[in-house]
Amino acid sequence: MGFLTGKKALIVGIANNKSIAYGIAKQMVAQGAELALTFQSDKLQGRVEKIAEELGCKMVLPLDVTSEYQIQDVFTALDSAWDGLDILVHSVAFAPREELEGRMIESSTREGFAMAHDISAYSLTALTKAGHKMLAKANGAVLTLSYLGAERAVPNYNVMGIAKASLEATVRYLAADLGQDNIRVNAVSAGPIRTLAAAGIKDFRSMLDKAAKATPLRRNVTIEEVGNTAAFLCSDLASGITGEITYVDGGYNITASA
Ligand SMILES: NC(=O)c1ccc[n+]([C@@H]2O[C@H](COP(=O)([O-])OP(=O)(O)OC[C@H]3O[C@@H](n4cnc5c(N)ncnc54)[C@H](O)[C@@H]3O)[C@@H](O)[C@H]2O)c1
Repeated sequence: MGFLTGKKALIVGIANNKSIAYGIAKQMVAQGAELALTFQSDKLQGRVEKIAEELGCKMVLPLDVTSEYQIQDVFTALDSAWDGLDILVHSVAFAPREELEGRMIESSTREGFAMAHDISAYSLTALTKAGHKMLAKANGAVLTLSYLGAERAVPNYNVMGIAKASLEATVRYLAADLGQDNIRVNAVSAGPIRTLAAAGIKDFRSMLDKAAKATPLRRNVTIEEVGNTAAFLCSDLASGITGEITYVDGGYNITASA
């Protein structure tokens, strides 16, 4: 019996089997969780449905986090199927590609800033708000994904770093507010991993190589390692932890080169 046996989890952010959210979903299923998955657009539907089949997941719902209607529809569907929601995983980020390269002073725009913050940071509040009642029923746990660029100026990360800083602050504010409802809110700050979203960052390959060389563990981390920590943080084993940003980066953040 796994440590998530009997837990119901909504996983938002699977695009394919390289996604961090896929690593999380897999490790949660391995620990006994039952899942509902979402897909951002028709283009991704087939791939996410295949993954759902592989993971024995019956509920697959459309969700673009910029749409309040779709957010409501997801929780209406969950509410009619489940008594409560034990786990909400938010593994979503987006910024226009042109803003993830070069000098920030040149690439930043008001529209890009608004979009990056809406999709990558506010959506955590939007989902938690819509799921509040179901999460409260289950003493639920919320988990999001961040990156070191929230705290340090990482080349090319630009507006996404600022959105991640907002996301990490959101984790603390939501945790402070929702503790009274026995809902915990945490983030994993992952080291660089080759995914679809990461491919949008200029020179991502050199970020990966640099991190692998400078990391205490001398290698990059995997989506399974992120998934294991996410599973732990969303389980009763972590019942005393909320408002935290936990690094799964092989120790890179502690080094002088980070
Ligand atoms: N890959 C890395 O190096 C790395 C490191 C640290 C943190 N992260 C974070 O992990 C999270 C997941 O990213 P990933 O690397 O697995 O890439 P990914 O491309 O596999 O996942 C990003 C997901 O965001 C979804 N998304 C984007 N806009 C959306 C919208 N409007 N509505 C709904 N969904 C939307 C995409 O459909 C996709 O499923 C992101 O928050 C990312 O910033 C990634």
